[in-house]
Amino acid sequence: MQIHHQIAELQAQLRGWRCAGKRIGFVPTMGNLHAGHLSLIERARASADIVLSSIFVNPTQFGAGEDYSRYPRTLEADCALLREAGCDAVLAPSVEEMYPDGADLRTVVRVDGLHDILCGAFRPGHFDGVATVVAKLFNLAQPDLAVFGEKDYQQFLVVKRMARELSFPIEIIGAPTAREANGLAMSSRNQYLSPAERQHASLLFRMLLATREALKSGARDYATLCEAALAELTSAGFRPDYFEIRRAADLAEPGPTDRDLVVLVAARLGGARLIDNLRVVAADVPSV
Ligand code: PAF
Repeated sequence: MQIHHQIAELQAQLRGWRCAGKRIGFVPTMGNLHAGHLSLIERARASADIVLSSIFVNPTQFGAGEDYSRYPRTLEADCALLREAGCDAVLAPSVEEMYPDGADLRTVVRVDGLHDILCGAFRPGHFDGVATVVAKLFNLAQPDLAVFGEKDYQQFLVVKRMARELSFPIEIIGAPTAREANGLAMSSRNQYLSPAERQHASLLFRMLLATREALKSGARDYATLCEAALAELTSAGFRPDYFEIRRAADLAEPGPTDRDLVVLVAARLGGARLIDNLRVVAADVPSV
């Protein structure tokens, strides 16, 4: 497995693979890899001949006061895991290599309708940073497919819409959320939690499951369901940003006939901001 710090070196290697007719799968990451990331590599491997990953803690998707400077950087351990998982090449560029004219870009990709709702309302500019860096990575690597974790469901939709509207000839694949034994969604940010908080954090998943069950049983009063979940999380010591039921296709507020839904939550616990979601096909017949 080749580790490239220079974009031009990676591109030379990719040209060789492309000339040999290889199908290239891409898994962009910010490093500090865990089993969730490795499941994305596995998913890419299932549909591609060559798997490329990137490790880049992208400064433009962090807001002021967020965890950019303390975000765990573990390149050596990450590369060992990627090698073991059968990854073929890694791009690990410096900030200067990715943003040679400075990270304060004048060209920004913004996905209207998605960038400023849910997490975007609490992290202004975050999804512009994500969409822009992913567009850059797509341009420089030109993969045939790219895999994103559905744990970051809003990010997945942002990337899908961006790729479609900007005509990137790249298949965008969503991979299921990997979970700890207690249900907690795997995330690099889980390491900001103490062992006790890590156990307690599984309440997020249990609240999602309970809401999904209610929707499947015909409950349709979305506001009441979300208020109840927010109250329970708050009384359990979480500081929730939101608990919402949205349309799975576009994260719009669902109407009474919408069935393909997603329940999403973002909440702080201790020093971590945690997000999670669960898809649900709601029951056809509303309860009375
Ligand atoms: O999900 C992530 O790790 C990042 O947001 C991504 C997609 C690699 C862009 O920096």
